[in-house]
Amino acid sequence: MTQKQYWWFFKGFDVRDNKVWSRSFKDYNLEDLAKRYPTPLYFTHGKRIEDRTRLIREAFAKNYTGEVEINYAVKANYCPQILDLIALLGLGADVVSPNEAVLTEQRGIPKNRIMFTGTSVSKDDLEQLVKFGNYKINIDSISQLKKLGEHRDEWNIHGLNLSIRLNPSVGAGHNPDVITAGIRNDDGVPIKFGIEQEKIAAVFKTARDYGFHPDTLHIHIGSGWLGNDVHSFKIALHNTLEVMKELSGHGFSNLNLDVGGGPGIRYRESQESFPFDTYAKIISEELSRSGVKIQKLITEPGRSLVGDSTVLLTRVNTVEEKNGILHAFTDASMGTLIRPKLYHAYHEIINISNPDGQPNIYAVDGNVCETGDTFTQDKPREIPEIREGDILGILDAGAYGDVMSSPYCLRGRANILMEHRGKLIQCSKGVEDLSQILHRFNAGVRLEK
Ligand SMILES: Cc1ncc(COP(=O)(O)O)c(C=O)c1O
Repeated sequence: MTQKQYWWFFKGFDVRDNKVWSRSFKDYNLEDLAKRYPTPLYFTHGKRIEDRTRLIREAFAKNYTGEVEINYAVKANYCPQILDLIALLGLGADVVSPNEAVLTEQRGIPKNRIMFTGTSVSKDDLEQLVKFGNYKINIDSISQLKKLGEHRDEWNIHGLNLSIRLNPSVGAGHNPDVITAGIRNDDGVPIKFGIEQEKIAAVFKTARDYGFHPDTLHIHIGSGWLGNDVHSFKIALHNTLEVMKELSGHGFSNLNLDVGGGPGIRYRESQESFPFDTYAKIISEELSRSGVKIQKLITEPGRSLVGDSTVLLTRVNTVEEKNGILHAFTDASMGTLIRPKLYHAYHEIINISNPDGQPNIYAVDGNVCETGDTFTQDKPREIPEIREGDILGILDAGAYGDVMSSPYCLRGRANILMEHRGKLIQCSKGVEDLSQILHRFNAGVRLEK
């Protein structure tokens, strides 16, 4: 019998005998996996992260002749074993908090390949990062630079190498809240990141006056943009190169250029995969056109490396019609994966237990007490027949998934497994139980009667 070809096969799946299989983990099918291990369960294909790394490297090797460094954006997924894999792949890291810096280094990414880009950074953060950690800092606000300058002697950081984050005036992203350049996002929210173009030269000079060595100009325009937004990136890059020209007039030349992260992934069938070849070519062409010479090109992909490596497996507790809509209630929630609720983000949902079943229209809901706790939001959709006890797979949950989760309603955070070289790695201690959730509370302290 010929099997139906599903558009999501390229993410590492196969369908055989009405069961969904992972192409790189062959011990048993994904329904059996979800029956052996507690759900909700994030299952990551390490192989997919390797493939994505190779794809990005090859795009640059083909289209750009200079030195390129790929620094994984740890915020996308800090699961320790994913960081191990990132280290094995020889990638560096972009980190956003002192804790991310420390964990990243603990998992084997060399200190000189870690750069911190933070927002609302305190003196204590800086002390931890620069004095004790000796991590490279990307200056996002002038106040950070001043704090470093004021503590230069005390922290013994003369000659510190720095990166400076520019707001290149044009942003892009899958949702207004993840657009990080420009003046305001599409909802009118003022952009808090980076330093405006007209202030950059003064900031570089101030850094030099403090005796620091600003050697990198950084931008990050936003997250989750695809081919149709590459033109925004191109304009942002053009603006950045104009700033680099201005900087060379002040004696800052041969800088590193860090273009940040942001390339998106194909969440929907109707979308196209991110054109990494075009992206690398645009960077190469814009650099040639501008005549700006750079030392090293740095990119900071997060989502595009890990996003489609992971499926969230969740069991269906109840299937019931309410107000004429068929609801499939699962053992996951907006606490497990908040993207649909937070960004109205679309995640493909497949029936792992019955991929060839007769499709019907379903709302797929969670197990906490909000109407918005649904993975299909306002658009119930066609999914192969769902029965109570079935395992559903919510695709593309590898980036900004588990790391944004919460134990709302005392529903524990999900179980995490990963495939690496065909072997199963248990990355978490199962689904969080009550005592694990309560760990940070002094539950033993009781109020007097
Ligand atoms: C400075 C910086 N670099 C890289 C990234 C990674 O973005 P993405 O996961 O979209 O590639 C982010 C995400 O917000 C970021 O703030």
